Amino acid sequence: MSVISLGYVGVSTGRLDEWADFGTAFLGLQIADRSARTLSFRMDDLSQRFQFEDGADGVIQQIGWEVESAAALQAMAARLEAAGVRIQRGSAALAGQRRVRELIWMHDPAGNRVELYWGPEKADSPFAPGRNIAGFRAGPLGIGHVVLTCENIASVLPFYTELLGFGVSDYVLAPFKAYFLHVNPRHHSLALIENGRRGFHHLMLELMQFDDVGHAHDLAQLRKADIAVTLGRHSNDHMTSFYVRTPSDFMIEYGWGGLTIDPATWQAVELTDGPSIWGHNRSWLSEEANAVLRAQLQDNADRGLRQPVHVLPGNHDVVSDR
Ligand SMILES: [Fe+2]
Repeated sequence: MSVISLGYVGVSTGRLDEWADFGTAFLGLQIADRSARTLSFRMDDLSQRFQFEDGADGVIQQIGWEVESAAALQAMAARLEAAGVRIQRGSAALAGQRRVRELIWMHDPAGNRVELYWGPEKADSPFAPGRNIAGFRAGPLGIGHVVLTCENIASVLPFYTELLGFGVSDYVLAPFKAYFLHVNPRHHSLALIENGRRGFHHLMLELMQFDDVGHAHDLAQLRKADIAVTLGRHSNDHMTSFYVRTPSDFMIEYGWGGLTIDPATWQAVELTDGPSIWGHNRSWLSEEANAVLRAQLQDNADRGLRQPVHVLPGNHDVVSDR
């Protein structure tokens, strides 16, 4: 009995029109539904994955985590209540808005609204991407990952690991604290960064085909979008990606080739190679913080740090070395 995937994310924004364009023509999502005050997107065979509503710009409103069944949701509710967490039962109307059979919701210790649900609604038509991409790696792995900043990781982490059953994939202790957590074979579905304030750092979407990341990289420049983190490869989930600033200021990491793990045997480790094997220069960091990252990249290059690429059937050819 635990969470099985990151199912949906809801964000408020004052820029619904910009999001309708950015979500489809740049990210490749499909508009599921549009009203004067709401906008939702699909990314796979489910009828809804991202919910935008009119409001304060770029504030994460809800994070939806899927559990297996009605019985699993009941068991989770009982466990949370026994631990003193105040849970609310979602009404049938709310479940309808979320396109799920049933949900409960609560706040995590940092104040983020967490929704647990079972029974997501399948769409009655195939996913039709908003631009020509081969699709997202989502489905049972969930939408990707969400990264939140918080004041104090120690006060938030046990809610996820002990109550919701998330596993620790790895963690960073210096120069800042960060924890990467899994709920299925995706290396991480949630990461927490301790930076002194509660916030929404980024959302990661993973593409099936590497060239779709490259096309987006071109489109970002053609659209004069802010590439807030340059192309690079992460040292823990091996994702090759870049980050773009969205119309609502938080970032989207757009990537390919993420590591999947076996949660049954995975051992949490401390990360010491820095966040990236190569690349990922961050435009917003101070000169001092960038110097620390550059020293790590130099060290990675000196040590010849490299990792295998993780490919899927249909997105690679194996060639001979002669
Ligand atoms: Fe990420």
